[in-house]
Amino acid sequence: EKGTYPHYMLKEIDEQPLVMRKIIQAYQNETGELAIEDSILEAVNAADRIYIVACGTSYHAGLVGKEFLEKTAKIPTEVHVASEFVYNMPLLSEKPLFIFISQSGETADSRAVLVHIKGLGHPALTLTNVAGSTLSREANHTLLLHAGPEIAVASTKAYTAQIAVLAILAAVAGKAKGLEMSFDLIQELGIAANAMEAMTDDKEAFEQIAREYLSVTRNAFFIGRSMDYHVVQEAALKLKEISYIQAEGFAGGELKHGTIALIEDGTPVVAISTQENVNLSIRGNVKEVAARGAYTCIISMKGLEEEGDSYVIPHVNELLSPLVSVVPTQLIAYYAALHRDCDVDKPRNLAKSVTVE
Ligand code: F6R
Repeated sequence: EKGTYPHYMLKEIDEQPLVMRKIIQAYQNETGELAIEDSILEAVNAADRIYIVACGTSYHAGLVGKEFLEKTAKIPTEVHVASEFVYNMPLLSEKPLFIFISQSGETADSRAVLVHIKGLGHPALTLTNVAGSTLSREANHTLLLHAGPEIAVASTKAYTAQIAVLAILAAVAGKAKGLEMSFDLIQELGIAANAMEAMTDDKEAFEQIAREYLSVTRNAFFIGRSMDYHVVQEAALKLKEISYIQAEGFAGGELKHGTIALIEDGTPVVAISTQENVNLSIRGNVKEVAARGAYTCIISMKGLEEEGDSYVIPHVNELLSPLVSVVPTQLIAYYAALHRDCDVDKPRNLAKSVTVE
């Protein structure tokens, strides 16, 4: 039930800190350490390459998951859109492991890939929010997201839950093969949960940004680099689906290779900057579009902020930053849709679970 909330989407955005804490609990063993079933760790560490397969928002979570699996578990990882993979398979490695990410566990495009790769004899792990769902039943292994029911069509808490579970999977798999992490993941996830809470308590700031930048525009661009590039793709999808503003998320450096031609006087460009090594270069991209008339908004992370930034999110571990930097973009999309009188929880032409290919 949505209780006092006007929309499920807003309630689900607000639930994210709680979901983070539930996930930490669910994946802790009796001694308080993060733990994953042995059979899953064996499957992950036996793989010479991981293929993540998903659609939409879950695909965007997969992009972040690849970073964890490669950086903390040192396993080469590819991320694929399910509907493409099934018709145009890449050359597979000798010992692939497939990870399906699906909030509903019922997405037909992802299932088609699962059926196909099972036929080839490859193992599969499903990350899903729904125990007993088709993708969970048909895979060899399941990890649950513990996000609670997600009712709004636009996925929010499932995305951050997927990222948290992927971080835990990569950390525990890395540890099982003797790789030590440079930070304490339980502690950092807790810090991220607190940061999410600080932002969900600060909604007027995002309502203001939505009003100022997005209440009348036809289009909008999101830019970021590195981890922030993954998040801006999700930010654009969220804005598109509920506010019907034509939006795209780009890698900051790619703008000059074509897209910058679209910048006109007043075109909104939202940049995210949470990564120290690309902070200067993304700010350079913001200057490039501003010089061509763009109306620019910078969301930066504490420690990297500059005067004039539109919003500064609390500092969190850089690798986990998507958990936190996505929250402003969810709230901005929500308020943009409200300002434009859109049906937030049930956008036109969309269904919560897509059971046709
Ligand atoms: C976007 C959204 C969709 C889903 C996609 C996959 O907000 O909800 O893009 O993420 O249809 O759905 P699942 O995760 O259920 O496989």
